[in-house]
Amino acid sequence: MAERLRVEHLMKKYPGVVAVNDVSFSLNDGEVLALLGENGAGKSTLSKMICGVEKPNSGCIFLCGEEAHLNSALDAMNRGVAMVHQELSMVGEMSVAENVFINRQPVDFLGNIRWKELFENTRNLLKSFQLDIDPHTLVKRLPVGVQQLLEIIRAVSMGCKLIILDEPTSSLADDQIQLMFANIRRLREQGYSFIYITHKLDEVMTIADRVIVMRDGCMVGEKSVNNITVNEIITLMVGREIKQLFGEEPADRTISEDYAFEVRDLSAKELYHDVNFGVHGGEIVGIAGLIGAGRTEMALGIIHAHKRTGTILKNGKVCRIDSTTDAVKNGIAYVTEDRKGNGLYLDYSISQNLLVMQLEALSNGLGMLKKSKINAYATKQVEDFRISTPSIHQTLGNLSGGNQQKCLLATWMGIEPDIFIIDEPTRGIDVGAKAEIYQMLKNLAEKGKAVVVISSELPELLGICDRIVVMSGGTVTGEVKKEAFSENAVMDLAMRANRTSY
Ligand SMILES: Nc1ncnc2c1ncn2[C@@H]1O[C@H](COP(=O)(O)OP(=O)(O)OP(=O)(O)O)[C@@H](O)[C@H]1O
Ligand SMILES: [Mg+2]
Repeated sequence: MAERLRVEHLMKKYPGVVAVNDVSFSLNDGEVLALLGENGAGKSTLSKMICGVEKPNSGCIFLCGEEAHLNSALDAMNRGVAMVHQELSMVGEMSVAENVFINRQPVDFLGNIRWKELFENTRNLLKSFQLDIDPHTLVKRLPVGVQQLLEIIRAVSMGCKLIILDEPTSSLADDQIQLMFANIRRLREQGYSFIYITHKLDEVMTIADRVIVMRDGCMVGEKSVNNITVNEIITLMVGREIKQLFGEEPADRTISEDYAFEVRDLSAKELYHDVNFGVHGGEIVGIAGLIGAGRTEMALGIIHAHKRTGTILKNGKVCRIDSTTDAVKNGIAYVTEDRKGNGLYLDYSISQNLLVMQLEALSNGLGMLKKSKINAYATKQVEDFRISTPSIHQTLGNLSGGNQQKCLLATWMGIEPDIFIIDEPTRGIDVGAKAEIYQMLKNLAEKGKAVVVISSELPELLGICDRIVVMSGGTVTGEVKKEAFSENAVMDLAMRANRTSY
């Protein structure tokens, strides 16, 4: 097998952090290499150097045996390397074909775009990726999974033979993941190489040939997938064994007799209808369902992020929520699944973000913020949530994806709401941090809070919840109690249109 990529002693420093420290490895044609490590370990930074987005401070990159000094992403693409980033980069308002051939549309001798050829070429590419979509479709109309595939298609059509995927499946539905894997396998057969970054370790076992593990910027292990188990990977990643992934059951958690929180007849035109469920104090209730079942919309409805009808009750009393601010005032927190879109202020510092919800608690009688209090609070949250950062004043956008997610949690948990609704709590989060987050949710329940967890990861719901409410087609189709927990019981309801109970 020919060598596609070799990196030697790569190093990248940012102020206060050595993000990548003396990393060397190689990758052959037709090989899928999983790049693993905790949040902030340096995976994205390493990849960005290989695809020309970041310049190393020292070290060398060789492509097909030749040393490459990459000046930009385009430069790397011209040498056959493309990266699909954690955040997608398609232009929603343009068609599939225009996106795939962006900046390299076929033109005639006058420079006019040959539209027919553009769409025809795209149609053929889509077909080879088993995608049955019209190349005229606007990209924003397509599910994330398909957009992700389009990024791969674009790379392939540009002649890139090394494709780096940074957490490609973190927001994909199961069937989309399968489609992506089928395409990766097919391309691997044809000699394409992949660097595959993920926190989903079961995926590593099915798709990768070899793994390398990073910790604190250094490479701490390299193994063929045949010679390593998931547990060994975890130990390499976090430097310790994780015994209780789903957290320890708190010693004295009591679940209240009555509902602490109840949703009655919640409906919003075309989004969801007649949603009813309740959560006891001290209880963790999961909301399961397939993508498009209306779970996130329904949660947004609870905090009145859009127009809806229905009633919210807290401790048996009707709770008037006419705006998201009302929700916070009533002790109801909704932690968004979309941290980039409406959760965090990426241009502001960690401490400013942590503070957003705390302005009253941390100000003096005159409404002035006390710096010492702010710093002490931010430092404590950063420690408690193990946010890896050189300082509380670091700009949030500079943190690794997983650490941004931890900040989002820290911001909301900081206000100690009575009702805690959390949407996809562990997306992009490493195994060690996952265990910590589950423990935090259990501790919230121990304090008598009502916790609602929306998640597409069934094992997560089965592992931490007391009860799972299932939605399908915009309404609740039933619920599964802990005694009856199984993937089948939940999936059965998730695919059903009528109301039933287990
Ligand atoms: N532009 C930047 N400026 C300053 N520090 C940065 C910058 N980009 C990354 N870092 C830091 O470099 C380290 C490695 O970050 P990186 O994003 O590579 O981690 P990662 O392994 O991809 O993590 P995750 O799993 O959370 O995505 C982190 O400590 C991060 O805060
Ligand atoms: Mg990353």
